[in-house]
Amino acid sequence: MLVSSISQLIKDKIKINSEITISGWVRTKRISKAGIAFISLYDGSNINDIQIIAYSSLDNYKKEILLVTSGCSLTVTGKLLKSPKKLQKYEICASQIKILGWVKNPEKYPISPKKHSLEYLREVSHLRSRTKLISSITRIKHNIFLYIHNFFHKNNFFWINTPLITTLDTEGSGKMFRVSTLNSKNLSLNKEKKIDFKNDFFGKEAFLTVSGQLNLESYACSMSKVYTFGPTFRAENSNTNRHLAEFWMLEIEMSFANLKIIMRLAEKLLKYLCKKILNNHIDEINFLSKKNNINLFDKINKIIKNKFIIIDYTNAINILIRNKKKFNNQILWGKDLSIEHEKYLTNDYFDAPVIVYNYPKEIKAFYMYLNKDKKTVSSMDVLFPDIGEIIGGSQREHRINILDNRINELKLNKKDYWWYRDLRKYGTVIHSGFGLGFERFIAYITGSCNIKDVIPFPRTPYNAKF
Ligand code: 4AD
Ligand code: MG
Repeated sequence: MLVSSISQLIKDKIKINSEITISGWVRTKRISKAGIAFISLYDGSNINDIQIIAYSSLDNYKKEILLVTSGCSLTVTGKLLKSPKKLQKYEICASQIKILGWVKNPEKYPISPKKHSLEYLREVSHLRSRTKLISSITRIKHNIFLYIHNFFHKNNFFWINTPLITTLDTEGSGKMFRVSTLNSKNLSLNKEKKIDFKNDFFGKEAFLTVSGQLNLESYACSMSKVYTFGPTFRAENSNTNRHLAEFWMLEIEMSFANLKIIMRLAEKLLKYLCKKILNNHIDEINFLSKKNNINLFDKINKIIKNKFIIIDYTNAINILIRNKKKFNNQILWGKDLSIEHEKYLTNDYFDAPVIVYNYPKEIKAFYMYLNKDKKTVSSMDVLFPDIGEIIGGSQREHRINILDNRINELKLNKKDYWWYRDLRKYGTVIHSGFGLGFERFIAYITGSCNIKDVIPFPRTPYNAKF
């Protein structure tokens, strides 16, 4: 019988004493006093490794098996046995072990079985998925990806693949990566002595998108409930534990929905994902709890069991002003909350997830719905303990005259937004949406302190080497 992976072995409940074949990499090897080799083999398909027992009677025992080190790749054929160990289900008594690939200079192997710091592992990102830590996070991430699609499919949303190359700056922060085929050594300038993009690939200055929202709105205004899920790019020079230059964002957009409706939807989605993780990934959550020295069950239950606190920005500012704890960043109505303020609200004051809504218009993007007070917009941020903002969203400005005022106020070029404005000219409707930072959510769920450890190859300032 041929078994292709450890997870299949566990899932398919293969009969004890059957002959099976399995391939993988050596985590550790030890030789007992009686001269039996015990090899712990992993293949990444499951959190559990499988123990291989190799007796000295095997043909290549002396010449090869004794020389096997961590990282070598093997194909093993043998009999499946019940493991006497508590934490392990099975082991394999090998009748044949083929070495597929040796490790050159084992003493220099970067992922030796000893403990490595996360900082060190980032320096060997091309090999770090060989550790149980990174592969556990990766499996959880894969599953959350599926749960997200499931959730939206079940709730009658359609997936829209919005473009990654754009000519519009959705968030208006100006922190975009340019996409160009112009020869940087021979740039032609226009009358204003600025680069002339007329001869560039798109005949216009183009960028990697910071958000798929504007395009998504176009489909929401015909298909009612839509979402997009893909990479987004931000040329922010912030080297923090929660910022990446390339990250994944799930964005949803709903017609005929106001801010309240999408606040509820955000809570429902986050609770659904957390429940799925606790129901289906106990082994990984147990392992990550131990590894990160944190009770992840409590952390995830905090999202499931607490009703999200909903307060408006002005109230949040008042709470922060009243607090006696000293903050490094000033608290002032009209200024954005910083991570220390967000954490004070979620960790200290409420000890729960918090949704702050109705932020001042000056600190938010042009597309947000202007409230009656003309000072605030119908926006919301979902804040999680420890990590702060995990979701940003709003009701959209669907009134063309007010949208135009905002575009003018912010000195944006109205012509660039012609198609976005069309949506307000032809059968405009109230609509709202939000964006979930995928990696920030994964960092929370897995108890990772640094977002760079939950994306395979992090892109941050001065760092794109892998
Ligand atoms: O709050 P943001 O900027 O919202 C938008 O982009 C809206 N267009 C979304 C929408 O309404 N469709 O970003 C959304 C989320 C943030 O709450 C945060 O979790 C995450 O994206 N995020 C980042 N994650 C990692 N690295 C960065 N540099 C991030 N910037 C934002
Ligand atoms: Mg935001």
